[in-house]
Amino acid sequence: MAKFLVQKSGPLEGEVTISGSKNAVLPILAATLLSKEDCVIKDAPALRDVDVMCRLLESLGAAVNTDFENNRVEVNASGELHYEAPYDLVKMMRASILVLGALLVRTGRALIHLPGGCAIGERPIELHLKGLRALGAVIDEEQLSRGIVDARAEGLHGNDIYLDFPSVGATEVIIMAASLAEGTTILENAAQEPEIVDLANFLNKMGARIKGAGTDTIKIEGVQQFRGVSHHVIPDRIEAGTFMIAAAITGGRVLIRNMVPNHLKAVIAKLRECNVEIAMTEEGVLVSADQKPIVSTDIKTLPYPGFPTDMQSPFMALLTVARGPSVVIETVFENRFMHVGEFNRMGANIKTEGKAAIIPGGKQLQGAQVVATDLRAGASVVLAGLVAEGTTEVSQIYHIDRGYENFAEKLRGLGANIMRIEE
Ligand code: UD1
Repeated sequence: MAKFLVQKSGPLEGEVTISGSKNAVLPILAATLLSKEDCVIKDAPALRDVDVMCRLLESLGAAVNTDFENNRVEVNASGELHYEAPYDLVKMMRASILVLGALLVRTGRALIHLPGGCAIGERPIELHLKGLRALGAVIDEEQLSRGIVDARAEGLHGNDIYLDFPSVGATEVIIMAASLAEGTTILENAAQEPEIVDLANFLNKMGARIKGAGTDTIKIEGVQQFRGVSHHVIPDRIEAGTFMIAAAITGGRVLIRNMVPNHLKAVIAKLRECNVEIAMTEEGVLVSADQKPIVSTDIKTLPYPGFPTDMQSPFMALLTVARGPSVVIETVFENRFMHVGEFNRMGANIKTEGKAAIIPGGKQLQGAQVVATDLRAGASVVLAGLVAEGTTEVSQIYHIDRGYENFAEKLRGLGANIMRIEE
């Protein structure tokens, strides 16, 4: 299995260009199943998760052409589709559940074994199912008790749906199903993430009538069919945030191209509290930490527009070296502190208590053998390795490959000392 060897690096300097968003392209690819015409997705990042989604679409009966060198995926789902998602693909990626709504619309049935994915606690899907039931789907309860979603619908009907929690995946699945249902759906307490807006823009280009995406109330008027379209995926805000922290933690100065600052308001505000200078320029966002020492701050993760849970572990890497103690509170996921054990092996001395992590800060980290326990945790131990004395060996980096395009190459381009070793 592949590993990263990370050595203490000087201040990162130069420019980096952010790739298309993983979390936007996955639902958009699932949504291509809703059209019987050609769809072209541009700026699709070359990632393991995107590849898995393409293979899933293919196994469901779509013709998929990938040109990852040019970040382009073409999908044609005009033929008959199968209703069952193969377990060997679904178990590789939790986001496979995103095909649920589109399969129901196209085939009248969706059969999916509940997936694994990031090891970050319970990740139930009862909200996805609540929404689909409200639109008229019938879920086999006995199968569900065995971890299999078997949903059937002979035609979906619009309805009013309230989500108990603004789940990103549930919002996306419901929007997809409701957009070709008969009548109007009002989805309340919807997730407001930029990726939801990108999905709605994509669907609207195809002919959907979706209003309010990006707010907590989304109105979807069902239409009868979709045309094929071409779409550019938005930049990956979590990748952008990770590179902002790479610049900050090394005391560097990095220009980040292809980043939408509005998507990262909470992260930018928190970095500024830590003394990081952030300037919006015509070419991109200039992140400088070469003037003042990094100081501590507290973080609480929340649904968008709050501080993103996916930035929690990368930000914690910064707080381990910041002057002064910090508290990080994780409210979105249970059990999303697996990286704490890895940071502690490097000398961070973090304590956790329920949803809170207490970080003493001000540490000189030491290189160690650490594990990428999930996608974002993996990126965060690499960040810590950039400032740790000696060598940090990061194993299980297939997690990082799921979500960061050319992570090591991009870091090396900024002067980081990181090598990939295939074993
Ligand atoms: C998406 C992102 C992921 C990000 C997360 C939260 C993708 C492919 N992944 O994941 O990177 O970390 O949003 O920003 O876009 N929940 C329930 N019941 C449900 C659904 C969710 O209790 O039916 C809970 C989950 O257990 C979790 C929280 O809600 O604790 C957030 O989940 P959700 O917003 O659904 O995240 P995902 O769509 O899985």
